Amino acid sequence: MKTTKSIQIVRATVAQWKSQRLTIAFVPTMGNLHQGHLALVKAAQKKADKVIVSIFVNPSQFSAGEDFSTYPRTEQADIEALATHHVDMLFLPPVDEIYHSQAKTHVIVSELSDLHCGAHRQGHFSGVSTIVCKLINMTQAHYLFLGEKDFQQLAIIRLMIRDLNLPIQLKSVPIVRENDGLAMSSRNGYLTSEQRQIAPKLYQALCNAKKALQQSTAPFKTIEQQQKDYLTQNGFNIDYFSICRADNLLPATSQDTELVILAAASLGKPRLIDNLCLTLR
Ligand code: PAJ
Repeated sequence: MKTTKSIQIVRATVAQWKSQRLTIAFVPTMGNLHQGHLALVKAAQKKADKVIVSIFVNPSQFSAGEDFSTYPRTEQADIEALATHHVDMLFLPPVDEIYHSQAKTHVIVSELSDLHCGAHRQGHFSGVSTIVCKLINMTQAHYLFLGEKDFQQLAIIRLMIRDLNLPIQLKSVPIVRENDGLAMSSRNGYLTSEQRQIAPKLYQALCNAKKALQQSTAPFKTIEQQQKDYLTQNGFNIDYFSICRADNLLPATSQDTELVILAAASLGKPRLIDNLCLTLR
């Protein structure tokens, strides 16, 4: 595996691959890799001849008071995992390789970025869409692989690619979960052993809501409230628990069939997000 901190080396390598008519997939990450990230790598390897992974803890997507400085950085273990999985190139840039000190340009996907997580994390999605746009420009890959774990992020990047005519195809990969249902996340390491026991109840609440949607005619607001109560009783502090249309993430109505239930809640300090898609007939 080739490892580089340099945009120029990424570009030169990609140009060489393209001259050989090879296809290239790109998997952006913030490191502290787990099986969720590695599922993206495996899917990327099935689709393309060459796979680039980036590890960059992107300061601009962390709001003031969030965990930028304490975000888990496990570079050596990550390098080993990616090498074991035969990734072709790892891009590990320092902050000053990515951001000009006087940078004035930001990518904002309006409206969608203000909902759900965006309403609770000021500026977060502008930071995400800007870095993903920049990384797409740097890597010039044919395919971009993102996880469905971050469902709103995925929807925002889909719109950004459409609206800016970026020459890349977006591919999404299903959520990888622990045996007890907890969605894998680099932030799960923040959970105390007691919180870790309770954490799978977030997925349980999503499953309860899905079952209620499929088996009852209760209003969506009632179903949401029942699961919010369940989570609150179990010690969660809820940011949102919303039954939405899967295409635009706006509140669903009884006419809608393609739905996603989106949830974010904290257990003490650690904040968990998760979601579950369903089709109503
Ligand atoms: P990070 O949280 O490291 O996630 C990198 C990619 O892995 C994202 O596409 C995310 O959705 C996916 N992922 C994380 N956990 C997953 C799981 N349990 N199952 C499936 N996929 C999972 O998301 C980011 O980094 C950043 O915002 C980034 C896109 C890299 C921009 O900085």
